[in-house]
Amino acid sequence: MRLDGLNTTLLLAPRAEGLPEIVHWGARLPDGAEGLRDRARANNLLDDDIAEASLFPTAGTGLFRSPALVAHRGGRDWSAAFTQVQSDGALRVTARDPVARLLLVLEMALPPDGDVLSMRVTLTNEGEAPLTVDHLASGAVRMPPEATELRTYGGRWAHEFTETPTTLRDGSLLLENRRGRTSHDRFPLLVATTAGCGEAVGTAWGVHLGWSGNSRIVADRLGDGSLLVVAGELLMPGEVELVPGESLATPTLYAGWSDAGMAGLSRSFHAYARAPLLQMPATPRPVTLNTWEGTYFAHDEARLIREATAASALGIERFVLDDGWMVARDHDHAGLGDWIVDLAKYPNGLEPLARHVTALGMQFGLWVEPEMANPDSAALREHPEAALSVAGREQRLSRRQLVLDLADPAVWARVYAALDALLRKLPIGYLKWDMNRDLVAAGNAAGRPAHRAQVHATYALMDRLRADHPALEIESCASGGARADWGVLARTQRVWTSDCNDALERLRIQRGAARLLPPEVMGSHVAASPNHQTGRRHTLAFRAAVAMLCHFGVELDPLELTDAELDELGGWIALHKRLRPVLHAGRHVSADAVDGRTLTGVVDDARAVYLVAQEVAPARAHPAPLRLPGLVPEARYRVRIPAPQRPIAAASYGHRALYGEGVVHAGGTLAHAGFGPPPLRPETALILELTRED
Ligand code: GLA
Repeated sequence: MRLDGLNTTLLLAPRAEGLPEIVHWGARLPDGAEGLRDRARANNLLDDDIAEASLFPTAGTGLFRSPALVAHRGGRDWSAAFTQVQSDGALRVTARDPVARLLLVLEMALPPDGDVLSMRVTLTNEGEAPLTVDHLASGAVRMPPEATELRTYGGRWAHEFTETPTTLRDGSLLLENRRGRTSHDRFPLLVATTAGCGEAVGTAWGVHLGWSGNSRIVADRLGDGSLLVVAGELLMPGEVELVPGESLATPTLYAGWSDAGMAGLSRSFHAYARAPLLQMPATPRPVTLNTWEGTYFAHDEARLIREATAASALGIERFVLDDGWMVARDHDHAGLGDWIVDLAKYPNGLEPLARHVTALGMQFGLWVEPEMANPDSAALREHPEAALSVAGREQRLSRRQLVLDLADPAVWARVYAALDALLRKLPIGYLKWDMNRDLVAAGNAAGRPAHRAQVHATYALMDRLRADHPALEIESCASGGARADWGVLARTQRVWTSDCNDALERLRIQRGAARLLPPEVMGSHVAASPNHQTGRRHTLAFRAAVAMLCHFGVELDPLELTDAELDELGGWIALHKRLRPVLHAGRHVSADAVDGRTLTGVVDDARAVYLVAQEVAPARAHPAPLRLPGLVPEARYRVRIPAPQRPIAAASYGHRALYGEGVVHAGGTLAHAGFGPPPLRPETALILELTRED
């Protein structure tokens, strides 16, 4: 049994008992490579040869690693052991446990033109009594023993997607998220690589769970040294009980592979995200102004109207009114949950501002946080039972808000009606959909944990709103990037990568996020200097260059800029618009850091754009040659540093040429010999534009 992708093969060996064994997930194998392996075995094992690298390991088969299923009926029927009863190649495997009376369907897919494998599982209770499911994984992926190094992606608020290397010589590595949203600190992505894997060299396997709630990823070192990664939703106690005949379907596990280093793994993931995952309109990603850091809660309609005019003059295409427009919303203590416009700030409602924005040719976007309410809101004063809680316990506030039980149809209907009314009344093309707290003791009216149902109800709300308003785009924000998984990405068009807009921090955050997310979904904004999160001061050029490759935006009040700054920012916006066809469709490349200098880029058949950033002061006397990956070796490229970038006063004659007509080199020369870049001070960056001459 096998599935073949563009460069990859998943090879499974059916077993007389138990589920298929994963023989191989990685480089594409030649035809006819099917069949079982002979395995030498040590002493003191079970008499039968049990395949440890099972597609769906369970305890009852004699496997001793972390199981993919933990379920029971009142303490009985707990030792699941499945036997395959049917299969449609490697696409769909049906298996049954006649003793515990369970039916399992494993579905797998590997697009022939890509290298991301997807897996999901459906479990059905075929017994006569309810089945308590404590854990049901989406499947497992095996990596060979040379996958010795691991990387995780975590951090905290305003410090997301920090790539952290680790190793696993023996035992298990557990990555558990119990926050009820995807989280800042335990992003459900685990990457394993060969030793010394770099940006462009080495083999990398990545496992991601496309799910916006609690998750559990376990990597187990097996008896032969290979690594088995089991990933799935993490269930709360008693969260899932299947009545006879009832089924539970898991979220999707995605596994990517590349033998072209970490950048290659990103390319595999990006290709899959672009199709089939994302539902992205064909229109270019509009340059955005988001009002949060320029305005916070101090909304002044007349000033916002002038801001919109200034934004339009800059070339901005989408104007997003962030938090603060609702009644009582002068701070984050009140006003969440009612979705009523504050007539003290907007005497005639939001129409005048929204119509002004659209009359200028920009799209109007609005911030909402539909899953939440402040206790000080009509929503919770009238329906205190609507907040998730456990009776008898005081609910913990976070940002002074509570989580609504969206899986309650009455609550869902009220939230839907409020959002639908806004979308019908105002010319809203875009919602910035925020989710600003973790779930604590989140029980529903029946007293049961509501985490899983909450995610499904949120997805259903997004799906329904998009079905009813087909042109609507949604940004997934959760205190920055705490909900940026592929479950939510399948129904949104952008993620707010981080609340940190400091360009230096953003280089690291975007590097981690780009392992999985294509640049066009990663919101990145030019914010004020000094930066609001870190206090650092950065040039406009550095801030704009760092945002350039992503979904570009501005997060400041343009009325506070000088004429010279407006002029320069307008130049950066124009540059982004000119480059975005390649930036948002091309292939991602990156290089290992050299003396504090990092490089990422995007390449298509005719052009390439690179972001070269000097993150810390160089230690060496001269910059190392700048080598540009991803080009066609025989093709000739004109290399330029386009406007509004300007040479520093001390630039040599050769460097000044880069800012003018450019220099022409063969792709192979640029890749291997490189060229001498202009000197870069710490915390500065360059955008290089390459155009094929032939
Ligand atoms: C969160 C978001 C911010 C902003 C505020 C508004 O922190 O991440 O971008 O929208 O909420 O309250």
